[in-house]
Amino acid sequence: MTVATEARAATLDRLINDEQARFLRLHPRSAAAWREGRRHFLYGAPSHWMRRWAGGFPICVDTALGAHVRDIDGCDYVDFCLGDTGAMCGHAPDAVTRAVTRQIERGATMMLPTENSLWVGAELSRRFGPRYWTLTTSATDANRAAIRIARMITGKSKVLVFSGCYHGGVDEAHVEIRDGRIGLRNMIHPNAVNYDAVTNVVEFNDVAAVEAALASGDVACVLTEPIMTNFGMIPVADGFHQSLRDATRRAGTVLIIDETHTLSCGPGGYTALHGLEPDILVAGKAIAGGIPAGIFGLDYATAERLWRIVPPVNPRQRQSAHLGFGGTLAGGALAVAAMRAVLQEVLTAPAYVSMIAHAERLAARARDVIGRKGLPWHATQIGARIEIMFMPNAPRNGADVIAGRQPDLETLMHAFYMNEGILITPFHGMLLTCPATSLADVDRHGDVFERFVGLVEDAGVI
Ligand SMILES: Cc1ncc(COP(=O)(O)O)c(C=O)c1O
Repeated sequence: MTVATEARAATLDRLINDEQARFLRLHPRSAAAWREGRRHFLYGAPSHWMRRWAGGFPICVDTALGAHVRDIDGCDYVDFCLGDTGAMCGHAPDAVTRAVTRQIERGATMMLPTENSLWVGAELSRRFGPRYWTLTTSATDANRAAIRIARMITGKSKVLVFSGCYHGGVDEAHVEIRDGRIGLRNMIHPNAVNYDAVTNVVEFNDVAAVEAALASGDVACVLTEPIMTNFGMIPVADGFHQSLRDATRRAGTVLIIDETHTLSCGPGGYTALHGLEPDILVAGKAIAGGIPAGIFGLDYATAERLWRIVPPVNPRQRQSAHLGFGGTLAGGALAVAAMRAVLQEVLTAPAYVSMIAHAERLAARARDVIGRKGLPWHATQIGARIEIMFMPNAPRNGADVIAGRQPDLETLMHAFYMNEGILITPFHGMLLTCPATSLADVDRHGDVFERFVGLVEDAGVI
């Protein structure tokens, strides 16, 4: 480290400490709740993810309505985190509340279909293309099932993913390229899985690397987001999806597109918007308005391949037709009722027009500040999702992110944002709009971003 970088790191450290101290002063009740939670929960809160906020401990929520969250200290936040996309419908949307209330009075789960499911299946095919659907309890589960099916129908073992990806609690995708070989993804701890045996990883947007990996002949599926959203936002290069499709078809490898986050691009996700042709499409998070649910859909040819192994109807083989995926609560009546409300009344085409217009405005203001100050930063906006990154250009792949990322500056931004009443996903600079996001919300972000730039400018960090 040079003297200048050492001094910069020390200044950042001091600024983060100051913001965390301010956070503690603003949140005495949340701090007490955190101390109490640590007496009972393995990682202080019901989910270990909840401890990852930059204030040093999580705010404890009182209410979440529309695009706002209020904590037990009475602080109000404009919520651009939206439960890391789980609340992309906005918090407590009326249609979902009504549907869930109605259904819970009639039974939450019976391991039997309801008539709502007929509507949901048809609507999923209308949005994403004709497919044969299965509902799960999460996007993680949907990805695991899709991988399993790919292995069943190809007889091959490996999963090919892109460095910097995240697809939930899916071991095969917990990898990235480190020093030119397969390593554990950022934040994943060693857990004795032999990743080399089950996975392969290449850089996003690298057609030659995909083709070389597929040439080994042992890749059951490629699992990818259509644009990468979990390592900063990495846009897709022109022609990459076509090349990926062609290469996977040539290799007899199943192409799984995970739309869990990119459902923010439009009513049928990035796939419908750009005419992609995945063999299996996966989504989750917001799809049932915050009630746990995921979906995966097979196109006809892929479904037929599976039906040859496990026929769709065979009353005599009830006991032996176990597919090895899905859970007891998957596709339960409550989740299906919520999903119907989301698809019919919340994530509608007009709702996307508003979400995307607000996202465009948010990104434009951020770009304006960046431009006026001459900062080597950028803002990417795709659909309702925005990413502010502390590097001059959008990364082409995970290697660009690793090379350019400034984790301390990110931590400072997250802590400062919370103190100023803005929530964003606590990992990188990702923001999302929902149907309830207002112009005032977007402009509040612009003001806070400008103040953040002022803070780091005055401190000599930029
Ligand atoms: C693209 C993508 N797929 C799948 C998942 C897993 O979702 P869940 O944790 O709800 O199962 C995530 C979670 O962040 C994701 O970003």
